[in-house]
Amino acid sequence: LASYPAISSPFTEERHQLKIGFAQVGTESGWRLAHTNSVMAAAKEEGFELLYENADQSQAKQVEAIRKFIQARVDIIVFSPVVKTGWDQVLQEAKQAGIPVILSDREVKTEDDSLWTSYIGSDFVEEGRRAARWLLQELGSRGRKVQIVELQGTEGSDPAAGRKQGFEEVIGNDFNFQLIESLKGDFTLESGRALMSEALQRRGGDIQVVYAHNDDMALGAMQAIERFGLQPGKDIVIISIDATKTALKALATGKLNFVVECNPLLGPQLMKAVKDHKEGKELPMKIITSEGVFTQDSAKRELQSREY
Ligand code: AHR
Repeated sequence: LASYPAISSPFTEERHQLKIGFAQVGTESGWRLAHTNSVMAAAKEEGFELLYENADQSQAKQVEAIRKFIQARVDIIVFSPVVKTGWDQVLQEAKQAGIPVILSDREVKTEDDSLWTSYIGSDFVEEGRRAARWLLQELGSRGRKVQIVELQGTEGSDPAAGRKQGFEEVIGNDFNFQLIESLKGDFTLESGRALMSEALQRRGGDIQVVYAHNDDMALGAMQAIERFGLQPGKDIVIISIDATKTALKALATGKLNFVVECNPLLGPQLMKAVKDHKEGKELPMKIITSEGVFTQDSAKRELQSREY
């Protein structure tokens, strides 16, 4: 059900300075497309060869991709894991082959932390907190029950776990806020639309807020609400995470209410880390990108310069 076209790597012709194997999650979202493009463009800029593999959100395919990179004797593996666990074996194989692994965008949970070199990406727990803080500020203090439907990203993935944890931590401070449904999606527009339309069938107008773990699911929920005959952004508040151009447009026109930024433009930082590592410099275990939040007003201003 991927909504974006698969991309093939343009960097396979000639071996330059360094050969990087990039094992990407898939093509599930607008954010993912921007992330892939950023990594490819930054590698090209540096004159590095980049081997790209798209796992279509399948852990098995991603393991296969990493093994291919080991066989191709790449200098470094860049990896955005579909889910957090289940990587020890293949990362051990990379370590035995002497190939360092940098995690881009999502973290893994391994028995042995020396199986990967560094993580470059967001603080997903903080993103969830930011979403909930805005909600409490906007709808708290009214003394009324606020019923929330959460649309989760891929089960077992780092962003889905972190965004859930941070959000629950903050709404737990006000008993008026109730998470009435927490539904398992996969970061695609289609899953957001289907889950939200089922929730509306079950709950009718008894939903005040949708908290979507990414823009694509929020945009899908927006469509489901419209099809149900309600007004997204007015009858039901929608909060999202990513801040892609499409979501910022919907925010600026009042169909979404608040968007937390998750920065996909990790390519330049990633290439710097690759170079530093190759020069023997020690990399920090975590390099966290700086990110903001958008309201309906600030989205209008941001849209003029948004690249993705
Ligand atoms: O890991 C980052 C998340 O993955 C983004 O929020 C989402 O859009 C993507 O698919």
